[in-house]
Formats: sequence, C-alpha cells, structure tokens
Amino acid sequence: MTACIVGWAHTPFGRLADETVESLVVNVTNAALADAGIAAKDVDEIALGHFNAGFSAQDFTASLVLQASPDLRFKRATRVENACATGSAAVHQGLNAIAARTARIVLVVGVEQMTTTAPADIGRNLLKASYVRDEADIDGGFAGIFGHIASLYFQRWGDQSDALARIAAKNHKNGVGNPYAQLRKDFGYAFCRSESDKNPRVAGPLKRTDCSPVSDGAAALVLADVETALTLDKAIVFRAAAHVQDFLPMARRDVLKFEGCALAWQRALAQAGVALKDLSFAEVHDCFTIAELIEYEAMGLVPEGQGARAIDEGLVAKDGALPINPSGGLKAKGHPIGATGVSMHALAAMQLAGTAGDMQVRNARLGGIFNMGGTAVANYVSILERLR
Ligand code: COA
Repeated sequence: MTACIVGWAHTPFGRLADETVESLVVNVTNAALADAGIAAKDVDEIALGHFNAGFSAQDFTASLVLQASPDLRFKRATRVENACATGSAAVHQGLNAIAARTARIVLVVGVEQMTTTAPADIGRNLLKASYVRDEADIDGGFAGIFGHIASLYFQRWGDQSDALARIAAKNHKNGVGNPYAQLRKDFGYAFCRSESDKNPRVAGPLKRTDCSPVSDGAAALVLADVETALTLDKAIVFRAAAHVQDFLPMARRDVLKFEGCALAWQRALAQAGVALKDLSFAEVHDCFTIAELIEYEAMGLVPEGQGARAIDEGLVAKDGALPINPSGGLKAKGHPIGATGVSMHALAAMQLAGTAGDMQVRNARLGGIFNMGGTAVANYVSILERLR
C-alpha cells in the first residue's frame, strides 16, 4: 500500500458539443484539486490519459493540463496512451512515481472527445487499437472486432443472445442512478433482446444495445502517498494494482479466454491478499456486452464457457453476491476512451467513500476495477479500500 486516491472529479459523459479537449481537461483538473483540498503548486507530477488517434486535431496534449493554473507551469507532465485502458495507464504512471518516491502528489487526468468526428472516421480511429496489419479491414469499426469475438464464442459455447441482453439490461438499469451517465434509461430486457429499428444489428450477433456509445468526457484523480493522504479528508488506498500486457494480434492468442485479464486479476488479488468473494463490487470493462460476459469467466466468477450463469443466477446484479458495474458501466455511462479508466477509479472511490448516491452499493468496503485496452491486450486491475 503506497498510494491513495484523495480527490476526484467527473464531467457528465455524452455528446458535449460546447466542450473541447482543453475545456474538459481544465474543468476536471480544477475540480479534482478542489475536491482533494490540494493546491496546484503542491502537485509533483501530472499524467494525462488521452487516446486521440485522430479524434482531436490537437495531439501532444500533456500541457493542456497546465491551462488550469499558472501554478502547474514547469511540473513534469506526460501524455500516456494504452488504447481503451489509457486512463488506467495514466493512473499506473502516477502510482509508479509515488512508489519510486519521485512524487508525493500526482494529478491524473483522462479525457476524450469523440462525437465531433464524422461517423466513418470514428470507426477508423478506433481500429488503430487493433493489430492494423491483419485486423483493421473489418466492417463496423471496433464493434466488428467484438462482433467477430461474439460469433466465435457462440460457435464454441452456444448462442448467448439472452445473456448478452440481460447484461445490457442490467447495466442500463444501474446507469439510471448515475448522474454522469450518457444513457440514463432503463431499456429493459425485452428491448435489448430484440432486433428492431431502435435496436438494429451492428456487427455479428451484436445489436446497438450490446455496444458502448461514442462519447465525450473527462475524469481526474489526485493521488498521494499514504503519509500525505492521512492528513487529508479522504483516502482510498490501492490494495493492489496489476498491469498485464498481451500480444497484439488476435491470431497469437485464444481470444475467447482473455488470458491477460485473468492473470491481472490473479496478480491483483494475490497482491491484496484477498479472494474475489471478498470484493463488495467491481467496475469492469463492458465496451461490448460479450466482453463483460467473458470477463466473468476470466476473473474467476464462473468457469470457462459459463459466463451466462453469472448474469442468469443474479450474481452480478446490484444486490447480488458481486455487483458488477453498479455505475451502469461503459454501456450506460459512455466510453470516452482516454477518460474511461480514470472514471472507473473515480466511481469506485465514490462507492468506497459512501458518496455514490443512487449508484451506492450497500456496505461497499473493497472494490475491484478491470480496464481493458483492445481485445484483452492491455489489462489493468486495481483493488481499492477506504482508509479514511
Ligand atoms: N446503446 C444504446 N443506445 C444507443 C447507443 C448505444 N451504444 N448508441 C446510440 N444510441 C441511441 C442514441 O441515444 C439515439 O437515441 P435516440 O434516437 O433516442 O436519440 C439512437 O441510438 C441513435 O444514435 P446514433 O448515434 O445515430 O446511433 P448509431 O447507430 O450511429 O451508433 C453504435 C450506435 C453502437 C454503432 C455506436 O454507438 C458505436 O459505434 N459504438 C461502439 C463504440 C466503440 O467501438 N468504442 C470502442 C470500444 S473498444
């Protein structure tokens, strides 16, 4: 235990036409510092998670954080990127600086603006997170990749359309309680299960309700070493933080196993000295419903090929044995790529601080996070606990 989250901020996610990458970054930077009770001059290092890949004309965005305050000028600031796990990569950069004792206080910001990009370019930008040489020609953008994975899963383990619709319905129901969520509507199982004008097929067996939406948004965290954190109002400690990076080409792996995800969970649970059953809740990477289904298996909740059991038996419901995505997940909340991992940590911190409002899981004591880049290529698990 070397670092804590001592403050956080979160913009609403969605189509934010009046915002820019810069305004989003400045907004959450100031809000997170105020929430932590930390002055800008006391920040030692800044990590900005921003995927970009063509979404914004402005690359080289690390110094946009300095626009929030002249007191941030001359601080170490770096942009970090690891596909859809970009936000967690920025968190890890902060944790590493604190563990190495090169920083006491780190500001971590995650941001993405996607909706100002033309639809055809959105898919093309996202496919830069695939193994472009072999995989980027697929139809449907990244939904095409996960549609392919869903088809393979159905071939190996049978049609899972009912389970995928139940996952979508669960997350949309949870998302109604999330004031930051892009889609705050309880669509219900019947709507998510049926193909319709309002729920068309997108790729393979995946329908619109099986996909996370295209989003703008930002989130930020202030991290501090434990000694400093204990002098502040809030301290949510990292019991564990594991990062496992796998091969990029899907052809080099059994893509239905999410082995990097499994290993990241094993390492994090061992590091924390706890078992999965000790967690009060988990926020996991449901970029597509099939991803959440396979993650139930990879994290060890149910055996391989039986992901559907976790949702059918109610294990992952908000009042189940292990509530998964009480925030509504990426499915309801939205998925502004670089912000997502930071958002997951902020929402988990809210749960543990008991300030999650309508999202609150009862007696939340220990929270798990799984943030994934690509098709289980970049895999980050954090386990958080409230210290004060
Ligand atoms: N789930 C549920 N509803 C959605 C939705 C989603 N993912 N995306 C959009 N909608 C709703 C909109 O709110 C809108 O509702 P309204 O008619 O009541 O206003 C309606 O569907 C049409 O929105 P639109 O933006 O035109 O939908 P679309 O068909 O162009 O886009 C997807 C839907 C699924 C194709 C798009 O969200 C997508 O590409 N998602 C995947 C993004 C991705 O790959 N991220 C990276 C993951 S690794």
